[in-house]
Amino acid sequence: MPTSSPADSARPSKVRLRHVLEAKQSGRRLAMLTSYDQFTAKAFEAAGIDLLLVGDSVGTTVLGHASTTSTTHQDMLTFTAAVARSVTRPLIVADLAFGTYQTSPADAVRHAAELVRAGAEAVKLEGGHAMIPQVRAIVEAGIPVMGHLGFTPQSVNALSGHRVQGRDHAAADRLAEDAIALQEAGVFAVVLELVPASVAARITEVLQVPTIGIGAGPDCDGQVLVWQDMAGLSDFQGAFVRRFAQLRDELERAAGEYRAAVEGRVYPTSEHSFE
Ligand code: KIV
Repeated sequence: MPTSSPADSARPSKVRLRHVLEAKQSGRRLAMLTSYDQFTAKAFEAAGIDLLLVGDSVGTTVLGHASTTSTTHQDMLTFTAAVARSVTRPLIVADLAFGTYQTSPADAVRHAAELVRAGAEAVKLEGGHAMIPQVRAIVEAGIPVMGHLGFTPQSVNALSGHRVQGRDHAAADRLAEDAIALQEAGVFAVVLELVPASVAARITEVLQVPTIGIGAGPDCDGQVLVWQDMAGLSDFQGAFVRRFAQLRDELERAAGEYRAAVEGRVYPTSEHSFE
């Protein structure tokens, strides 16, 4: 059972863009999780999660790639459709895959529209100033855009690996400028990934749209985690991750018990058989 919070009565029956923006005004924290399939989507909807991110992290968490740069547009369409078919309440945000928007605003609009056709209600893309024409074009096409700054996984090679961004003054200023530029271009929220808490707090204070943190401290307007990290299914040990369950242990225990029952001929029994 999800833990109820005082804000439960204020929860919309369908999360829409305006509710995300209103949350910033009212101070209601936004909880976002990744989801790529019907079972997690339904469980997270039942738990009251406001935003589901069909992240390109599906490539690393589900498909076994080393980097999200290997996640394809077709992957994103398939997993976005699976989530969209399964839930009605949460706002569904889908990642634009690497290489589908950096090339031109026209490519960005075309791929964003295909994600919407698959069931996304908003799209997310990575980058600051360089992506402003793309953000403007997608927003003008009537598709809500979420920005993503700080450590941007699709630029893992350019950033020399998974590293906290914006540590020095100049880099922190650049991040803040990028966030403001994204807001002016029309994004409805900005993910801040692997950013010092003080920098994320400063950006959160300056922006009128919500910030969603991942490894960005407690002062963002919302938080997002990759669900397999949050639930202890992956073995990712990031310092910013809290494991709210130990699903890997539980799954291993269940599979071991199943194996023992099959090998010991105690499953199936007549109870599990047809006459
Ligand atoms: O793809 C993803 O899971 C993400 C989160 C890390 C924010 O973009």
